[in-house]
Amino acid sequence: MLRTHTCGELNIANSGNEVTLCGWVQRTRNLGGMVFIDLRDRYGIIQLVLNPSENNPDEKPSAIFEKAQSLGREFVIQVKGIVVERSNKNANLSTGEIEIQAFEINILNPSVTPPFTIEDVTDGGEELRMQYRYLDLRRNPLKKNLELRHRVTIETRKYLDSISFIEIETPFLIKSTPEGARDFVVPSRVHPKQFYALPQSPQTFKQILMVSGYDRYFQIVRCFRDEDLRADRQPEFTQIDCEMAFIEQDDILNTFEGLTKHLFKNIKGIDLGDFPRMSYGDAMKNYGCDKPDTRFEMKFIELKSPRPEGKGNIPFSETLGGPGFKAFDESEMVVGICAKGCANYSRKQLDELTEFVKRPQIGAKGLVYVKYHEDGTIKSSVDKFFNESILKKWADLFYAGPGDLMLILAGGKNQTHKALSELRLEMGNQLGLRKPEVFSPLWVYDFPLLEWNEMSQRWFAMHHPFTSPKKEDFHLLDTPNLSGLRANAYDLVINGVELGGGSIRIHNKELQQKMFKILGFSEAEAMRQFGFLMNAFEYGAPPHGGIAFGLDRLCATFGGSESIRDYIAFPKNNAARDIMIDAPSEISPEQLKELGL
Ligand code: AMO
Repeated sequence: MLRTHTCGELNIANSGNEVTLCGWVQRTRNLGGMVFIDLRDRYGIIQLVLNPSENNPDEKPSAIFEKAQSLGREFVIQVKGIVVERSNKNANLSTGEIEIQAFEINILNPSVTPPFTIEDVTDGGEELRMQYRYLDLRRNPLKKNLELRHRVTIETRKYLDSISFIEIETPFLIKSTPEGARDFVVPSRVHPKQFYALPQSPQTFKQILMVSGYDRYFQIVRCFRDEDLRADRQPEFTQIDCEMAFIEQDDILNTFEGLTKHLFKNIKGIDLGDFPRMSYGDAMKNYGCDKPDTRFEMKFIELKSPRPEGKGNIPFSETLGGPGFKAFDESEMVVGICAKGCANYSRKQLDELTEFVKRPQIGAKGLVYVKYHEDGTIKSSVDKFFNESILKKWADLFYAGPGDLMLILAGGKNQTHKALSELRLEMGNQLGLRKPEVFSPLWVYDFPLLEWNEMSQRWFAMHHPFTSPKKEDFHLLDTPNLSGLRANAYDLVINGVELGGGSIRIHNKELQQKMFKILGFSEAEAMRQFGFLMNAFEYGAPPHGGIAFGLDRLCATFGGSESIRDYIAFPKNNAARDIMIDAPSEISPEQLKELGL
């Protein structure tokens, strides 16, 4: 070993010990003839001191002194010295009570000047740090994130192993499974013009494992999806993928609520109570989205909602002041939120909120506000159309009192839900209601089974084609009312992030065939793509279901961050490139030829 100790483990109890340390030079300072060096390794930082008068006769003071002064940032060195108590203690460092009186320094490797500072707060921009990821990974915040990720995987394995789950690896070179995104494909050399696909998830394999009798499977597994990137999406990401046989929906929710609680308890020291459960329908009605941030209330209040059958407009209710205001009369939906204590918002703040909802990615046409002043008077941006007694009725509906602000949007149902949901999150931010130290889990269940796509004029599976409809809705499968079908599917949402999703599966060949037909597959095409699964279903497939958690998202949530990149050692940038190794890249004509491309 080149060292006797690491830089983080020494303290006052080691005083007087002779030690050998290795690490990187964080900083050197020359103060009053003494040289101080901060030496860093994975375990911490320790101060080295060189006092020309107190150095070991083995090396001439001037030589070691000169060497110390020649050290640049990020030089990797070996140091021999004596642990001594520090006169000027640093309470922020675990090693802050001591320093190493160095008597020998060996430069193991010099370093060119790094392109950014290797400090907790660095001066490097994101692209630069990704290019030099190996330097960025030396920084504490990233190191902490990777340690957190390590703990999450270890605790996951411990917990699932303790309840008889078995980790089984499934292949990466497979045939494509339709999960909604595009596949990354890999050309085969041996079979020219044929391609493997990288798995978007091990979905069909884990179902096959249930047929094989491995009734509790899990795998911490890389998945690949060629989809647009966002802060919470990477083209390759990791799932905690799980499947169980002989279970119902409640068993899955209870088992994986158990895992989530275990992780929070053991990693964050937080006891999460039992997780609330909410149907998809209620989530949409109350929050306009299927992954609500329930750290705060601010539920949607409808002033006007579409006809249940979704056709035609209903006039804006007379009791609430209508008709007369065109924007409301002509909208399918009028819905708002109550921002407590915001009646004192200035004109400028309200204009900013209006601009916020009118941004193209949010897409509202405008914002109506109603201020319930502290003195009991009510003023709105639509005073011309609605008198104070009508506005008071709105206030009653919104549970608004003196000091509160009502924010109202009107338009088509889906788009208004989406816009108000964004506005709700923005108000949550402005009011400090999205506290990073608070964790609010929620199970969302009873998702619709199918989604109609106008562009391609066909139904798509909202989760995936292997999800079972709810038994109560089976009769709808043979009717035109396919939009009314609910799935045995569920998501785990924490603080507005979809951390996991799963479903009870179809385990019967005929039902699976019917589902493929609804999804527009011909019988031959369904057999070509999924014959292996449907054939397996003929050999005693047990009832089964499962879930997959996004490990990267789980870690980012634990760390209180919205970006999963900082929890992945070598992530891709916004354009799906790895700019450190410069991938993707072209391949040689010979390689192309060999692959028959
Ligand atoms: P689903 O597609 O919902 O389900 O994925 C499960 C979880 O994986 C995470 N996730 C992602 N994380 C980072 N980047 C991405 N591009 C990305 N895509 C998904 C999310 C999500 O909740 N086979 C099914 C699971 C099942 O039915 O058991 C599946 O993959 O946190």
